[in-house]
Amino acid sequence: MIKKISLLGCAALFAATVHAQSSTSLNLIPLPAKCAVRAGEFTVNPQTKIVLGANTVQMQHAVARLNEQLKLAAGFELAVVERGASENALTCTLNPKLSGDEAYKLSVKKNGVQVEAKTPRGIFYAMQTIRQLLPAQIESRHQAVGVKWAIPCVEIEDAPRYSYRGLHLDVARHFMSKSEVMQYIDLLAYHKMNTFHWHLTEDQGWRLEIKKYPKLTEVGAYRNRTLKGAYVAPEKRQWDNTRYGGFYTQDDVKEVLAYAEKRFVTVIPEIELPGHAVAALTAYPQYSCTGGPFEVEGLWGVFNDIFCPKDETFAFLEDILTEVAELFPSEYIHIGGDEAPKVRWSRCHACQERIKKEGLKDEHELQSYFIARIEKFLAGKGKKIIGWDEILEGGVTPSATVMYWRTWASSDAIVKAIRSGNNVIMTPNAYAYFDYYQANPKTEPHTIGGYVPIWKVYSYEPTPAGLTAEEAKRVLGFQANVWTEYMPNFGHVLYMAYPRAAAVAEVGWIPKEKRDYDSFQERLIQLMTRYDVMGIRYNRSFLSESRVEKKEEK
Ligand code: ACM
Ligand code: ZN
Repeated sequence: MIKKISLLGCAALFAATVHAQSSTSLNLIPLPAKCAVRAGEFTVNPQTKIVLGANTVQMQHAVARLNEQLKLAAGFELAVVERGASENALTCTLNPKLSGDEAYKLSVKKNGVQVEAKTPRGIFYAMQTIRQLLPAQIESRHQAVGVKWAIPCVEIEDAPRYSYRGLHLDVARHFMSKSEVMQYIDLLAYHKMNTFHWHLTEDQGWRLEIKKYPKLTEVGAYRNRTLKGAYVAPEKRQWDNTRYGGFYTQDDVKEVLAYAEKRFVTVIPEIELPGHAVAALTAYPQYSCTGGPFEVEGLWGVFNDIFCPKDETFAFLEDILTEVAELFPSEYIHIGGDEAPKVRWSRCHACQERIKKEGLKDEHELQSYFIARIEKFLAGKGKKIIGWDEILEGGVTPSATVMYWRTWASSDAIVKAIRSGNNVIMTPNAYAYFDYYQANPKTEPHTIGGYVPIWKVYSYEPTPAGLTAEEAKRVLGFQANVWTEYMPNFGHVLYMAYPRAAAVAEVGWIPKEKRDYDSFQERLIQLMTRYDVMGIRYNRSFLSESRVEKKEEK
């Protein structure tokens, strides 16, 4: 059954050539754009070589993860050479004629493997495909005995549908260590996702060292209490009364970035403004409207105290963003922009003066002014901005990239933004918020609410209907968001993110017409055996509940 269904995706394109070879045949997530299974297999052995073609650092990175796993699981690693025979080798060739920086071709024959791509990134994705074609034990951290390291003979031509395939992680509500963040990046790269959105600042904690403002982390990285259990009425709330926090030094960040670079993952930092700023304002209350004092929040939600758009605040934020822009090589910096209540601004003399001086209509236009001023500053540093879809509310510059999240409020606005020239990234809460339940709340750990089972993630179409081909290009891709209010540790994060992230990876990668939930489910069962070998925690409810529910829906 598994074999039959997992071959379906290929059958449409290469019907005449399909032969089932082994139970791992093309159990790939994401499924390649074009694939065909041939008779036979290639067996990796200690004499197999990796021939790099171009022996650059990037090419070495492209093959390193596969080789690391071989060393751990098979007990040998492959010699990496610049030139050599293609017999008993994985021969990698850069071919500038191929289209797409992430595309690759993979040809596995009995006597050798040929990989072609335009860039080392494409070679890296071919290596992830090879990893998934090898027996599941390849993911072991300990030597697996008695395994034949065979790869089925295949012909694959592959390229992603969207250029942006991401996972977000909120490390502010709960802090995840540097090594946990690295594991998160490693796993998303394994699924051929290419962007890690690192949500670094919040009301509940500021997590990034800023050298010019040490109190951001000395003060802002720690809270004195955290809400225990569900978000209930104030008189019923219980607190743990425990100091909690943590932050990344800039050296930590550099280590994470180097790790991500080896996996061809772009790290986009998010520095929230003007809202979700209570931790920063606790450290530096002079940049609020009221002057404070404040306390780093231990409660979840949206808070009224936000940055006051006075000149001193812009100087402060610009200093911070200067350090951020120097630290992170990404083209984009995410500046938040969501959930910024306007109550303080409406009663603040400095804010009202700013509205008058700039000829703005109201506080919504003041928010647009705020974002546009920050965007202009960052443009001077060679950076573009991403903001949550609230940045559309008082008018937005056409150069900002908008991250759509409010499924209930802004689907028309996002289409309008696309039509007027903005690039967008789709992270709709009703399909891609992984803090929501993925299975029956009665049997799941407590969450913030909502319900996003994996079939719903898989059903999402990122490109809105009715766009022209030119407009559709402005939909950069798809991302899921992992807000950690109710995820106190990294095991819990993985449990909420996987396997739903596998659905994000496939939706972001495969051609629309190849998406097939039945086939995905069968391949996912195989992928889960790999998660088991990796030893990661993930949610298994899909095996019972989600599949049954989806069948009933039909
Ligand atoms: C968000 O969930 N506030 C972007
Ligand atoms: Zn103000």
